[in-house]
Amino acid sequence: MTISTLTLNDGNQVPWIAFGTGTALRDQDVQNPVESAIVNGFTHLDGAQMYNNEESLGMAIRACGTPRSALFITTKLNGLQPDQTAKTALQVSLKKLGLKYVDLYLVHAPGHHAGRLKEVWKMMEECKREGLAESIGVSNFEVAHLQEILEGAEFPPSVNQVELHPYVWKSLQPVIALHKEHGIVTSSYGGLSPLFRVPGGPLDPIIEKIRERLESTRGQSVSVGQVLIKWLQQNGILVVTTSSKADRMREYLDTANVPELTAEEIESIENAGAQHYYKFLVLSD
Ligand SMILES: NC(=O)c1ccc[n+]([C@@H]2O[C@H](COP(=O)([O-])OP(=O)(O)OC[C@H]3O[C@@H](n4cnc5c(N)ncnc54)[C@H](OP(=O)(O)O)[C@@H]3O)[C@@H](O)[C@H]2O)c1
Repeated sequence: MTISTLTLNDGNQVPWIAFGTGTALRDQDVQNPVESAIVNGFTHLDGAQMYNNEESLGMAIRACGTPRSALFITTKLNGLQPDQTAKTALQVSLKKLGLKYVDLYLVHAPGHHAGRLKEVWKMMEECKREGLAESIGVSNFEVAHLQEILEGAEFPPSVNQVELHPYVWKSLQPVIALHKEHGIVTSSYGGLSPLFRVPGGPLDPIIEKIRERLESTRGQSVSVGQVLIKWLQQNGILVVTTSSKADRMREYLDTANVPELTAEEIESIENAGAQHYYKFLVLSD
């Protein structure tokens, strides 16, 4: 299975969907779930220092038999200890992961570095310049945080990974507009929250109606989760999701084969989402 890619503003390519090792897998041994994700077709693995499971992510990477060059590995910078830099923190991650470089290194949350975002971004740029991270980016950044690091940046962030689903879509428009201006890829987490974290909202009947239309067009089953993932994909969003179940991992990837939503369907999802604001993570995972 070939996974399509998005082009980052530094010219690198990123697979459009990633298997995450946070949320339900945080503090867990992730070797089995990650190996299962790779066997089922994922090539992009989303980790973080904060998830406290980089060693087992590294074990899965080594055990899976897929060449390093065919995988895309992300990790994220946690808060810095007084004697640490983004580079020394990444060196610790690389040791745990058993890797020479990561494909993407993100600042996990701006709140970890209050008052020193510019300085921390300079440290991230050093990681890219030295080849320890092929690309660098941020997570949970709002407009003011992005503006602070963009001013005088040698490399603008390539990605901003944020909670993204129709119930926050309207409120995210200013940050998404800034992403477009600087070629920053918007990456989503919590994309399935409207369906499984807050079911019963105004989106549910809209998604079900679209699901039925797509299923009859396709002549094959389409799930409600796939409708939301398709909406993200058609908006050019990098999707970060996760599952404990092999069937669901395959279902997520199969979204690439689901027929496209129409412009009217996309609009109906966004209008229903705008009726109800819901955010499941206030700070960061
Ligand atoms: N940067 C950050 O601050 C941040 C914050 C949060 C998350 N993340 C990243 O994003 C990744 C994905 O996080 P997420 O949990 O927010 O992803 P998500 O795509 O919103 O949700 C995935 C969850 O939905 C459940 N699910 C899927 N289909 C379902 C269905 N039909 N019925 C019931 N449950 C269903 C899955 O459970 P099953 O196991 O049952 O399939 C899985 O636990 C994390 O692992 C992490 O890597 C980053």
